[in-house]
Amino acid sequence: MSAILPPADRLWWKHPIDRVEGTWIALAFVWCMVMFFMMVLWHVYGDQNLSTETYKTTPDAFIANAQAMVDQYTVRTETDLEIPVVAPPAGSDIYLIARLWNFWPILELEKDKTYRLHLTSMDYNHGFSLQPTNLNIQIVPGYEHVLTVTPNQSGEFSIVCNEYCGIGHHMMVGRLYVR
Ligand code: CUA
Repeated sequence: MSAILPPADRLWWKHPIDRVEGTWIALAFVWCMVMFFMMVLWHVYGDQNLSTETYKTTPDAFIANAQAMVDQYTVRTETDLEIPVVAPPAGSDIYLIARLWNFWPILELEKDKTYRLHLTSMDYNHGFSLQPTNLNIQIVPGYEHVLTVTPNQSGEFSIVCNEYCGIGHHMMVGRLYVR
């Protein structure tokens, strides 16, 4: 019998499982269970898997909050698109919009201060990948993702969209400052 040719006996699923094959299935199953419970361990002890809260929202409702923050705390504008750089007070709710094909506005945060970061998309699925820290969140339209962030490193960070979102996907890069 060969693994390449079709089985001679068409009722192959009625054959008893070979000892070796059964052992591998059992091993794979045990390993699946280990990895499954490691997800919980990584979350609790490994500081991985963000505890993101998610709420339903609409583009209009979200943009109203984002616009209010921008109107109040804009300190300058940057890039050809004149994207506002916003320095909201420590401890406040901060808003970031992902859309074809930029992130708006640019946030300027203070090191070691905690913020509630709200994310949404105005159109399609986008990704929030903070580089070089490697923080990853999927941004889904119609939903508001809220995470509590405390930047522990100052500098200029890039926000890269890591969900393919069309012809301008590769240009969808935002900025975030921590001072
Ligand atoms: Cu937005 Cu890719």
